Amino acid sequence: MRVNPIAGALGAEIEGVDLASELDDAVFAAIRRAFLDHLVIFFPGQNLGPAEQKRFALRFAPIYVHRMVEGMAGHPDIIRVVREPEERINWGSEWHMDASFEDCPPLATVLHAQELPPYGSDTMWTNLYLAHDALSDGLKCALSGLRGVHESGSGARYEDKYKGMKGRAVEPKVNVHPVVRTHPETGRKCLYVNESFMTRFEGMSVEESRPLLHYLFAHSVRPEFTCRFRWKPGTLAIWDNRCTQHNAIADYFPNHPALFAARRVMHRITIQGDRPV
Ligand code: SIN
Repeated sequence: MRVNPIAGALGAEIEGVDLASELDDAVFAAIRRAFLDHLVIFFPGQNLGPAEQKRFALRFAPIYVHRMVEGMAGHPDIIRVVREPEERINWGSEWHMDASFEDCPPLATVLHAQELPPYGSDTMWTNLYLAHDALSDGLKCALSGLRGVHESGSGARYEDKYKGMKGRAVEPKVNVHPVVRTHPETGRKCLYVNESFMTRFEGMSVEESRPLLHYLFAHSVRPEFTCRFRWKPGTLAIWDNRCTQHNAIADYFPNHPALFAARRVMHRITIQGDRPV
């Protein structure tokens, strides 16, 4: 197995592993090490069905089932992330971590590329350890006592919004998590914020929270903390959702007719995490 970093901040491509086969413990331990070291890892050319993708995800922990989006027929724990041709929005096209509104947000997400436009629709990730470490001591100290409110919004956030995906009308979910989180496996601190779900600081109004949140959201995605990946069909990615954010870039729309007419399909599994501390 070879691990080839793709950027200075995070991300590595893994060669020499066939995820369709039963992985022995030594190979899985090397994958887990690469995942913790690089935060998002990519396995090109993986010929996997839903059952093999699930078997790989289950090596990490049990699967988390999304409360607001229906899974695939026959595989309720896999979401088909679909952008149909000529649809004007795509899922995940803002900086976020997955389901940070849960008591125990997912540990990781496993995304397997199925169909892609001829170019465009890359995904970006940002390293929240680096974002934390680059803050001044004064701001680190101010943030250490703060907790963030993360809100899912209502089921209407996803219901009927995407042509190829089906949302569920569920009650909104709200949770409070520390703004600086200690990673349960590496022991490193990261800046645990994201602009999709975090609405304010606990004990403060939205208006009072806005200036500092605005700064932290922009700081957390500074270019030097990020990587950008160009997908090919068959590539499988797994990212650490505890210390990264990601953004599915919405650049394949009406101003690019060939891309506008293309479908993008990814199979997505999220893995259960623990309560941030
Ligand atoms: C996601 O945000 O979970 C999906 C990212 C992507 O489709 O690239």
